[in-house]
Amino acid sequence: MNSAALAVDAEGVVKSFGAVRAVDGITIRVAPGEVYGVLGPNGAGKTTFLRMLFGLIRPDEGTLRVFGRSWDDDGTRVLEGVAGFVEAPRFYPYLTGRQNLVALARLDGGVRPGLIEEVLDTVDLADRADRKVDGYSYGMRQRLGVAAALLREPRLLVLDEPANGLDPAGIRDMRALVKRLADSGLTVLLSSHNMDEVEEICDNVTIMDRGAVAFHGSIADLRAMAPDPGHLLDTTDNAKTLEIAARHQVKTEADESGALHVVGPHDAVSGFVADVVAAQVRLKQFTPTQTPLEALFFMLTNTEAVAR
Ligand SMILES: Nc1ncnc2c1ncn2[C@@H]1O[C@H](COP(=O)(O)OP(=O)(O)OP(=O)(O)O)[C@@H](O)[C@H]1O
Ligand SMILES: [Mg+2]
Repeated sequence: MNSAALAVDAEGVVKSFGAVRAVDGITIRVAPGEVYGVLGPNGAGKTTFLRMLFGLIRPDEGTLRVFGRSWDDDGTRVLEGVAGFVEAPRFYPYLTGRQNLVALARLDGGVRPGLIEEVLDTVDLADRADRKVDGYSYGMRQRLGVAAALLREPRLLVLDEPANGLDPAGIRDMRALVKRLADSGLTVLLSSHNMDEVEEICDNVTIMDRGAVAFHGSIADLRAMAPDPGHLLDTTDNAKTLEIAARHQVKTEADESGALHVVGPHDAVSGFVADVVAAQVRLKQFTPTQTPLEALFFMLTNTEAVAR
């Protein structure tokens, strides 16, 4: 694909802050119409990369083009194609959601009639648009941030950890919103530190680890690389359960409390559990520990799972 056709064409981009190479030679290509995820643990360099797309900071090395335009050649015309937010969107708390959008539209030289209503509707805030932002939940503020970006009618929407700090319902709403926007043809580039959050919505991902690319490819590629799922199993007779495990393609290990960590392919685990139950052993607990994609994320980024 030639560079002009790409929504984002970043090649060998480097950005240092003093001795810290926050972005260390990354290459990311985002095709128009796709939802692309930039994943990485805290400090990986996600925000630094996204800031460069908005021209808030300049790369030290490498090239960066948005729909074929670069800051060096085209200056602020790069922004004609891109909108979004890095870190958290900010609003005047004492104004309503709608008043904030009206103010932003004015600063931008006005928007076409009806657009404010349209974007409020898109982000599902139409019925709460006349309340003060002060009373908005975190999820509502994030969605208002998306609405503000949509006012600029971008072709590329850039969202920095849009699901960060949201509760499960908020995450679900944000995911549905991104899907709706993608279905309308918008290209979306978002960052996240949670693999499970993005797996349903992203077509392709780049996983960053300390400024560098640890993986890039499709979610399907990632799934193929992912380890087997893990479960925590506790029964009324763990000794017998261990004997039964020996007849299945599963790995089991007892923890200090005596409960068993079971790792294996889905079919093997379900066959094993069926045999445990058939042997009149009762399950006290059977819960997934890490999803395979999460486990892979921690492997690729050399980080550890944190208790949630
Ligand atoms: N303005 C700055 N001055 C100095 N160091 C910075 C600056 N911005 C980022 N860094 C450093 O660059 C590295 C990458 O930071 P960045 O904010 O891009 O990571 P991130 O992936 O967005 O992390 P998080 O998940 O915490 O948001 C970190 O080590 C950070 O401390
Ligand atoms: Mg960040």
